[in-house]
Amino acid sequence: MDRTPARDTLDPIERAGVDELRALQLNRLQWSVRHAYDNVPHYRPAFEAVGAHPDDVRDLSDLARLPFTTKADLRDNYPFGMFAVPREQVSRVHASSGTTGRPTVVGYTAEDIATWSGLMARSIRAGGGRPGDIIHVAYGYGLFTGGLGAHYGAEALGATVVPVSGGMTQRQVTLIRDFRPDVIMVTPSYMLVIADEMERQGIDPRESSLKVGIFGAEPWTQQMREELERRVGIDAVDIYGLSELMGPGVAMECVETKDGLHLWEDHFYPEIVDPITDEVLPDGQVGELVITSLTKQAMPIMRYRTRDLTRLLPGTARPMRRIEKITGRSDDLMIVRGVNLFPAQIEELVLATPALTPHFQCVLTRPERMDELVVRVERQVDAPADQAEVAGAQLRSQIKERIGVSVRVEVVDPDTIERSVGKMRRIVDSR
Ligand code: DLL
Repeated sequence: MDRTPARDTLDPIERAGVDELRALQLNRLQWSVRHAYDNVPHYRPAFEAVGAHPDDVRDLSDLARLPFTTKADLRDNYPFGMFAVPREQVSRVHASSGTTGRPTVVGYTAEDIATWSGLMARSIRAGGGRPGDIIHVAYGYGLFTGGLGAHYGAEALGATVVPVSGGMTQRQVTLIRDFRPDVIMVTPSYMLVIADEMERQGIDPRESSLKVGIFGAEPWTQQMREELERRVGIDAVDIYGLSELMGPGVAMECVETKDGLHLWEDHFYPEIVDPITDEVLPDGQVGELVITSLTKQAMPIMRYRTRDLTRLLPGTARPMRRIEKITGRSDDLMIVRGVNLFPAQIEELVLATPALTPHFQCVLTRPERMDELVVRVERQVDAPADQAEVAGAQLRSQIKERIGVSVRVEVVDPDTIERSVGKMRRIVDSR
C-alpha cells in the first residue's frame, strides 16, 4: 500500500526552495553561535583558541572557522556544564549509557522538547506513518533518547502510541498480535529477534498488521532492509540521530524513495570533514559527519564530531540534503592485517549466504602479534550441520574475495550468540 504522505500534510519548510532554506539557516546559525558563546562557559575559550568570534559568521561557509565540539568536551563538563540556560529552565535530561567512561548528559527546555516532538512527527510521517495509526515503540525508554523521542513524536503526529520499550520479547509478540499496530519503531537487530520469536510461536510475521518499520540507532545495510522487508512484509525505513544533537529524528528516510536520509536542515547544519586533516569536504565526498545545532536552547552545540561516516547528497523526495545510509562509525573500524573494515561489510555477505542467519558477531583476537578476526555466525534452525559448514567456508571465501582479508568463520548453533534488546554489540574485542 502506498504510504507516501500527501504533499499538503508536509511542514511548509519541507517544501521550501534552497534559497529560503539557506537564508533561514544563516539567520538561525548566527543566533545559535551567539547563544553558545555568551552562555556556555566552554565556548568562549574554545572560540579564542582558534581565533574565532561570533561576529565572524557572515555566511554559512564561515562556520568552518569555528571550533569543533567532541564527546570529550561533553565529558569534561559533566554533568550540566554544557547547558546555556539556568538549570531550572531545563525540563528534561537524557544521557548516553557511559559504558566507556563518564556518561554524556544532554538537556532540553520545554521548547526544545516541542521542537524534537515536531521533528519526530515529521520523521514518522516521512517514513510512512500517519495520524490515526497505532505505533508500537520498542526502543528503550529511559535515559536513552530512542523510546521517549519516538513516543512524543508519535503523539504529536496524532497516532495512538503503545509504549512497550525494549525487552520481554514474548510480550512484544502478544501486543503486536492483539493491538494490531501499523508501525513499529525499534532497532533493526531487535526487530530480527521479535520476528524470530513470532516464528517460534508459529506466527508468520508477514501476516501481522505491521506495515512500516522505522529502524535506527545502529548501522544496518541495504541487505538487512531487504531481509526485514521480506520476512516481515513491511516498508523498512532508516532513522538517524544522536543524543548530543537531540536524539532520533535528526535525519530520516522517505518511504517513497528509500534512498538515504533527509537531514532536517532547518534545525541542524551538516558538514562532512576529513577525519584526519579536519578539512571540510565538498558534498558527495565521504568523511565524518559534523553537525551544528541551529535552534537548540538548553544545549546549543557547535560543529559536533559525530564519528559517523557518510556523505552529503542532494535532496530527492524533499529539497533538503540527504546523508547516505551510515554503514560505519570510526569507533567500529577494525584493522585486520592492514585491511580496514566495518561490521556492516560482514553483515552484507552474511545475509547473502544461505543456511546462515543475520545473527553474527565479529570477535577480534591477537593470538600472536597479529590481529585476527573471527566471524561467529548462527546457522539457520533447519540447516543441517554439514550444510552450515559449507556455508561457513563460502562466507570465508566471499570475505577474502570481496573485502580482501582472511578471517576465521565459526558457524554456531541457533540461539548461541547474545541477543540485544536495543543496540546490538557487533564487535567483541578479546585482544
Ligand atoms: O541512537 C538516537 C536514536 C534512537 C536514533 C533511535 C535512531 C533511533 P545515541 O545513543 O546517542 O542516540 O547514539 C547515536 O548511534 O552517532 C550513530 O553512530 C548511531 N546511529 C543512530 N542512528 C543510526 C542509523 C541514538 N540510522 C549514535 N544508522 C550515532 C547508523 C546510527 N547508525
